[in-house]
Amino acid sequence: MSDSCVPRHIAIIMDGNGRWAKKRALPRFAGHKAGVDTVRNIVKLCVEYKIEVLTLFAFSSENWRRPEQEVSLLMQLLTTALEREVKKLHKNNIRLQIIGALESFPEKLRQLVIDAEQLTKNNTVLTVVIAVNYGGHWDIVETTKKLATQVEQGTLKAQDIDEKMFENNICLAGLPIPDLFIRTGGEQRISNFLLWQLAYAEMYFTDTSWPAFDKEDFLIALKSFATRQRRFGRTSEQVEKCSNNV
Ligand code: IPE
Ligand code: IPE
Ligand code: MG
Repeated sequence: MSDSCVPRHIAIIMDGNGRWAKKRALPRFAGHKAGVDTVRNIVKLCVEYKIEVLTLFAFSSENWRRPEQEVSLLMQLLTTALEREVKKLHKNNIRLQIIGALESFPEKLRQLVIDAEQLTKNNTVLTVVIAVNYGGHWDIVETTKKLATQVEQGTLKAQDIDEKMFENNICLAGLPIPDLFIRTGGEQRISNFLLWQLAYAEMYFTDTSWPAFDKEDFLIALKSFATRQRRFGRTSEQVEKCSNNV
């Protein structure tokens, strides 16, 4: 695979954990736990294939609607995963970032996030972004609030607000935009993930559930990406196959 055919940024909706567990007569939580192993594998593969950014949807704004016990187990799982993995990520020169409304998280989890981001901020091999309590609507509203505050303070004129400014203030600002969107678990929807940022991502859906998603599935997704012609509004004749240039 030539370099220009490899996505710089992959964004994944890790779905199908519950159904994976149910099929095996296990509690839903066993699926979430098995999903953590998949995260570990995919992070390794991203390093191997020189992906620059991997964004993972771990908990959506809407997931609070789940039974209280599942929400609380998910929080615990996230906390232990951070406690266990951050040092390893750092050792491997991987940067960790968290996006989402962290205010509503337990203090311990918030502190873990702050420490992990601080520790890994200068790492260069791969950036792993975890979206927790994240929603695309929330993200757009937060960005609007930031810009509106500047207008209120007189440092920005409303008519000067443009797409670039939005891009510079929304989550994932400063990172390459997602090139490849993957959703496991069979559903074909965005479920309020990165609504602004996915504007031109290539979409890839697979029936494989997240705990079962392995190297072979990952490579099939990369291959599918490599066959796409990204036109960004231009004609086919104007662009070369696999070109990632916007
Ligand atoms: C995705 O798996 C993980 C989270 C949303 C936290 P699900 O828990 O949604 O699994 P299914 O869709 O019920 O199989
Ligand atoms: C999306 O999965 C959120 C995450 C994977 C974190 P869901 O399973 O919550 O999505 P819906 O509800 O089926 O759309
Ligand atoms: Mg689901």
